[in-house]
Formats: sequence, structure tokens, C-alpha cells
Amino acid sequence: MSAALICFEPACRARYDTREVIYNCPRCGGLLEAIADPPALNAGVLKQLWRQRRASNLPIDQSGVWRYREIIPYFDDAADIVTLREGNTPLLEAPRAAQYAGLDRLVFKHQGFNPTGSFKDNGMTCGASQARLLGMPRVACVSTGNTSASMAAYAAAAGLQPFIFIPHGNISYGKLAQALDYGAHTLQVEANFDQILALVRVLSEKLGIYLLNSINPFRIEGQKTIVFEMLDQRDWQPPDWIVLPGGNLGNVSAFGKGLREMHAMGLISKLPRLAVVQAAGSAPFYEFMQHGGEFASNPHPETLATAIKIGDPVSWPKARFEIEQSRGVVERVTEQEIADAKAIIGRCGIGCEPASAATLAGLRKLVAAGAVRAGDDVVAVLTGNVLKDPDYVFRYHTGQLEAPDKSMLRSTFGNQPVVVPNDANRIAQVIAGL
Ligand code: F0G
Repeated sequence: MSAALICFEPACRARYDTREVIYNCPRCGGLLEAIADPPALNAGVLKQLWRQRRASNLPIDQSGVWRYREIIPYFDDAADIVTLREGNTPLLEAPRAAQYAGLDRLVFKHQGFNPTGSFKDNGMTCGASQARLLGMPRVACVSTGNTSASMAAYAAAAGLQPFIFIPHGNISYGKLAQALDYGAHTLQVEANFDQILALVRVLSEKLGIYLLNSINPFRIEGQKTIVFEMLDQRDWQPPDWIVLPGGNLGNVSAFGKGLREMHAMGLISKLPRLAVVQAAGSAPFYEFMQHGGEFASNPHPETLATAIKIGDPVSWPKARFEIEQSRGVVERVTEQEIADAKAIIGRCGIGCEPASAATLAGLRKLVAAGAVRAGDDVVAVLTGNVLKDPDYVFRYHTGQLEAPDKSMLRSTFGNQPVVVPNDANRIAQVIAGL
């Protein structure tokens, strides 16, 4: 088996050993991709093998990432693998959300069912395992909250020492609380995500700490299993569209790579189209794909969907490539559109964090514009659990949600709690009026 880290820049394509501790191409500075030979087994045999593993009690078979280990063949020794049984996230039918978007049918793949409540666990199991394989005892990341929660948990499980860097005052308490509980050294920096990423890259090199942001190609390898599991759950019938929110753009890069590999291996007959949705106040990738020219970062990104409050996404070259390869689209949505879509997802009995709801808000716009048709087969990916940001939920439902520009968001689908006296008759009257 041959595997390598390969520079993503077409003009460079330099190759490096997968055991090198590098995150960008030392020759040209480009992004790196982990590439391995395709599995020796044919598509039919792989499908059967992966299905059989669902009945196994082996930890690596129970993991929705390592069950597909033939497509992440960088680990010879299962002892290096740290798993919390990540993945295994459901496809959930959501008729009410479909109706809201103008679709006949809509299915959510809910990554919030992961051990730390977000899709980051799919990537982190792989990144943390790589840290262990490399013998790097300390790991670091900058995060809008989910990466840090996930890294903290996997580092703890793997016996590594986690250092997390977060923008002070800009991550939800649910996520911060997780990192503290999992025992991460937590540094709150007075800067935004993009500024801190630059800082952490310097620090990790200087101090020999392994960097576990999505610039790390092994994170991307783990995250690509999200689409393998999705297609496995659909008996390998590709949807027309896969919709996901975009922040640092690691996830769309992972999905695109996974889908291309699946297609090349003969596991699926066509490539689904990718639709990335950004928050309007943090939408540099939308602007770039819309207007072309040089990629321009946004020095002051703003959105209440703090998970995707990123103005200088490192993976934009990969994301552009994957959008082009899949004939995809990029959309942007307002704070009000995100908040209302989130409440609709809640009413489906599903729930998600604000960034995830950008998918439904974006779909509604794409259907209205005719880019997605009502009868299309669509899977939207909910990236995080509703309990990640309860403050946002409470404020929306009680009419107290203030947008970054200080305007108050409408509580269109609000659900106010009602204060009642300790009196059965009075409560019966209140219930009669509901
Ligand atoms: N949704 C959620 C819930 C996220 O936490 C993130 C990213 C995204 C979407 C966007 O994914 O960056 O791959 O485009 N959160 C990162 C973090 C940046 O630090 O937790 P992306």
C-alpha cells in the first residue's frame, strides 16, 4: 500500500511521507491532501464487508468512521486508533422542513448525534489517532467551539494533552463547558478565529505541538466517512444534492474528496451536487464564487451562528475545486433566515445548533430561485446538536435575540414559556386558551 501527503496545488503536487509533521506544502505553501491507493477489494465486496461490520462488537467496527477503514488506510496498528464510537448518525425524514423549503421531501443527516455532539468527531478520531501514531503527546486547535470540544474529548481518551484556543466571548457556553469538562487547557484569546489560527500555527511549530485544525489532512480523511456512511445508509443511491454549512470549509473539502473517491471506486454511479451555505455576515466564499477574482477574506466576520463566524477560511482552494467538480452552488442567508429555519427544524422534533440551520434556510432560497427543484432528492447535513447553544434558542423563542448589527430578530416561530400560579383551576383555564 502506498500513501502520501500530496500538495493540492496543481502546479506543484509535491509528495511527502504521511509520517511528516507538516500541514502545508514546505515547497509552495499549498494545502496538503492525504492520498492512498484505492482498496484492493472491489465495490461489491466492500459494500458487503462494511454492512457485516455493523453486527460486530469490535470497537473499530462499531465506529462509523473506522468501519470504513479501507478508505483511510494510514494506520497499520489498531492500537493507535482512538475511538468513542463516532459516526453512526441517522438519516431523519423531515416533512415539515421539506414543506418550508418548498421540497417534496427532505432528509437530514444529523451529525449532532456524535459523542461530543458535532461532525467534528468524525475527523477528530482520525486526527487524534495520527497524533498517537506520530508520538506527539500534545495537541492544539483554535476553534469556534466544536473542534475544541471534540479535540478535548479525543485527547483525553487517547491520553494526549490538549491545548485549545478560542475567541474570547465568541463561543457558546455549551461548547466551552465541554472542553473544560474533558480537561483541556483552555486559552481564551482577545482576537477572532482567523487571527488565532495564525497564532496557533506559529505556536504549534515553535513548541512541537500537533495541530488538529481542519488544515490537518487526517481530519479531512476522517470527515469524508460522513458521506460514505450516508451513502451506505441509502444503499448507495446518490442523492441529487448534499447541503451543508460552510465556515473554514474543511467539511465541504472532505465531502467532495469522499464522493469523488466513491465514484472512482464504483460505489456510486453519479456525483451528488454540493451546496454550501454561509451566514451573510461571514460569507467570503460566497462572494468569491459569485464574483471571481482574487479570494478576499472578511476581516470582520459577524453572525450569531458563531460556529461559522470565520472570515478567512483556510480550505477555500479545496472547497472551490469540490464545488466545481460536483457542479455545486454556494448560497448565503441572513440572521433572520437562519433563526427561523432553526425553529422549523426544532418543530420537526429534530433540533440543531444555529450554524446547522443555515442548510434549511439556504435550501429555501435555492428552491425559490429554481436552482434546486421541488422533486430533487436532497440530504441536508445538520452539523451540531441543539444543546450546543441553548442561550440562542431561549432568546429566539422569547423575543430577545439581538443580531450583530444590534437589531432585534423577529421571533417568527417563537414559543414563549408561560408563568402560572400554583393553582389547578387557573392552570386549567390557561391550558384551555392554548
Ligand atoms: N457547523 C458547525 C456546527 C461547525 O462547528 C462548523 C465549524 C461548521 C458548520 C463549518 O464547518 O469549518 O468545515 O466549513 N466549526 C469549526 C470549529 C470552525 O472550530 O468548531 P467547516
